[in-house]
Amino acid sequence: MNVRDVNAPAIADPGFAAISREINQAHHLPGHIYSSPEVAKLEKERIFLRQWLCVLREEEIANPGDYVALRIAGEPVVISRDAKGQVVAFMNVCLHRGVEVAYGAGNTELFRCPYHSWAYNGSGKLIGAPRIKETGRDMSKCQLPRVRSALWQGWVFINFDPQAQDFTEFIAPVEQAAPWYRTGECRIARKLTFDVACNWKFIAENLLDWYHASVVHAGTFGKYYKLGPEPLPATLLPQGASVIQFDNTSRSVDPNLPFPRLPWVDEGNVFSGKGAIFPNINFWSGMDSLRMWHLWPQGPGMTHAVCYILLPEAAFGVDDFDAKLEQYCNYVRQVALEDKGALESLQRGVDSAHFVPGPLSHLELQLQHLLKHYVGVMGFDQEAATNAR
Ligand code: FES
Ligand SMILES: [Fe+2]
Repeated sequence: MNVRDVNAPAIADPGFAAISREINQAHHLPGHIYSSPEVAKLEKERIFLRQWLCVLREEEIANPGDYVALRIAGEPVVISRDAKGQVVAFMNVCLHRGVEVAYGAGNTELFRCPYHSWAYNGSGKLIGAPRIKETGRDMSKCQLPRVRSALWQGWVFINFDPQAQDFTEFIAPVEQAAPWYRTGECRIARKLTFDVACNWKFIAENLLDWYHASVVHAGTFGKYYKLGPEPLPATLLPQGASVIQFDNTSRSVDPNLPFPRLPWVDEGNVFSGKGAIFPNINFWSGMDSLRMWHLWPQGPGMTHAVCYILLPEAAFGVDDFDAKLEQYCNYVRQVALEDKGALESLQRGVDSAHFVPGPLSHLELQLQHLLKHYVGVMGFDQEAATNAR
């Protein structure tokens, strides 16, 4: 795949294979994978319809009958808590003509299709199909197609692929490497959303990019990150995931913490942990709070990013909670705004016919790990090998 057919620059595009070299020799990925509609379509097929995806918190559907209707990678899906209190996921595509049967979020005992009134219970089982009985068909065993789902630390994951790896196996390496990510003992303080005019991978990479922190975020948290020439102490996990943990003051988070220390962070310890789960999740823990980012592509050059801010129960009782949370959210918004400027410019840059992917810094190790996995999952490593022959 080569889009550089005019005004070829003097330096050759190093191609896909260059991401997998030793970091001292590695180069970033070709620009068109961030802007091509064909690549975005292939990503849906090869990534978003095959991977485990974190879609919401269990607490967002806390009671039997609660549901949320979502579009994940363009696929309409319902996540609901059925009458027995189990979290279930099923396609939001009516068995008659395909109209969506659930909208928004709410609580209901049945979903009624707005087109011809077929009715489904909270698990997606068909319980009524007016005027079909007369045709002699037996509709008693019909069910909206189920989507695999799993729960972890208060999060709901789904997978559209019935053949996908077992979730417990999938999450085990992350769980072992990040025992401090205890969101199961927290609840949502706020959910912030951002629309950024760039490819989803740029945000996934940026959230793992220690190189830009002291530059783009010099006015916020960047001043606390004094990263030297030594390799990052990151743990690189299977399937593109990675975790990093800092426990010394020179790499701490902002000391002006508005909330009490997390109960499981030791007294006297200055702590910050961060990780990624392929494809679109980035998670973080400071000393007082935890966060998780979900990145949802809205086309090659647009991403809807959701940032969950989570706190342990005790934090909700502090004096001036609302004001402190607002201060916290403003801080996250400010940091996100700093990134947004760089990321949207990055998108314009790779769209240029003159863009050539440059070399990586050792501070881009986690980002490289994610991209190596991406290239493999997309089959671009095969393509690179074919082109080399
Ligand atoms: S499309 Fe749903 S009842 Fe006809
Ligand atoms: Fe950033």
